[in-house]
Amino acid sequence: MKQEIYNTKLGRMLLGDSIEIAEKYLNRHYKNKFQLIITSPPFPLNAKKRYGNLQGEEYLEWFTNLAPIFNDLLAEDGSLVIEIGNSWQQGKPVQSLLHLQCLFGLVNNPKSDLRLIQEFIAYNPSRLPSPAQWVTVDRIRAVDSYTHVWWMSKTDFPKADNSKVLRPYSKAMKQLIETKKFNRGKRPSQHSINPTAFTKDNGGSIAHNLFEIDPIDLERDVRLPHSVLRFSNTNSNDYFFRGCREEGIIPHPARMHPGLVSFFVEFLTDEGDLVLDPFAGSNTTGYVSEKLKRKWLSIEIEEDYAYKSIIRFNDPELKATIKINSNQGGIE
Ligand SMILES: C[S@@+](CC[C@H](N)C(=O)[O-])C[C@H]1O[C@@H](n2cnc3c(N)ncnc32)[C@H](O)[C@@H]1O
Repeated sequence: MKQEIYNTKLGRMLLGDSIEIAEKYLNRHYKNKFQLIITSPPFPLNAKKRYGNLQGEEYLEWFTNLAPIFNDLLAEDGSLVIEIGNSWQQGKPVQSLLHLQCLFGLVNNPKSDLRLIQEFIAYNPSRLPSPAQWVTVDRIRAVDSYTHVWWMSKTDFPKADNSKVLRPYSKAMKQLIETKKFNRGKRPSQHSINPTAFTKDNGGSIAHNLFEIDPIDLERDVRLPHSVLRFSNTNSNDYFFRGCREEGIIPHPARMHPGLVSFFVEFLTDEGDLVLDPFAGSNTTGYVSEKLKRKWLSIEIEEDYAYKSIIRFNDPELKATIKINSNQGGIE
């Protein structure tokens, strides 16, 4: 059973188990329709968070079974983007390999045709020291400060355009373009730099597969993609976070960074394309898609999270008309 919690001109937030909704509803109405599925699934955590996490083998099986579901919902040249953190073995200062097993589980699932197009790393220097016992108490491990972002597809050539997500030039590069003075010729890397290289202003440099989510040092020349810069740099002070604080609400504990979502939405879709987040939480994906004029569908199993995400759509910058559904019944 699913229920529509709210909708806007571009999207819908559904309440329910996304696996069940995919099998009973999306498969009938949205087969091969999503240009992008972007999500951070419930993480394989050892300590139970508020929402019920499966552990170990059970988690792996659940995760691997997502492959054919996503495969069927993706457009032929669509992309699947999954953000997932590291996990640690229970009670030991030893990293778990579960996330890697999950990746292999997805790409090796015989019922689907997914492949890893590229892995990205989202480095967050402001991450609180974790795993706390080993990092801050015993001081025997370094801070776990990044998540993996897997870009997958069922074709080798998913729709993508890196010119839509250029990074601002560094100060040095701006200077180079201005002065046109650089050392031409062979580099130690064997790259040969021709005389016209670096003389043209392309509006920015090509994005890397490493995101620096928050600036380490505000004085530093941080070079996130433009699209990331268009969103607040700090996830902990965006409209949603401030809205929650004003209303005395605890915000979702594991929100994706809106800049990261916007990077992939701009990189891999066009205006009007359809984006799905099957584990939507606070609906960062719906919010970003709405802002970037993409159609969206989000699914969240916890009623509380689904309702709280309404706050996002009050953001005046969004200019969204949101219709909250008071009808408590299911929809077909
Ligand atoms: C890591 S959080 C996602 C947070 C989200 N990306 C955001 O920016 O707020 C994972 C979410 O998946 C939800 N969830 C877990 N199992 C689910 C299922 N079977 N169907 C739908 N949602 C589910 C959890 O309640 C949780 O809110």
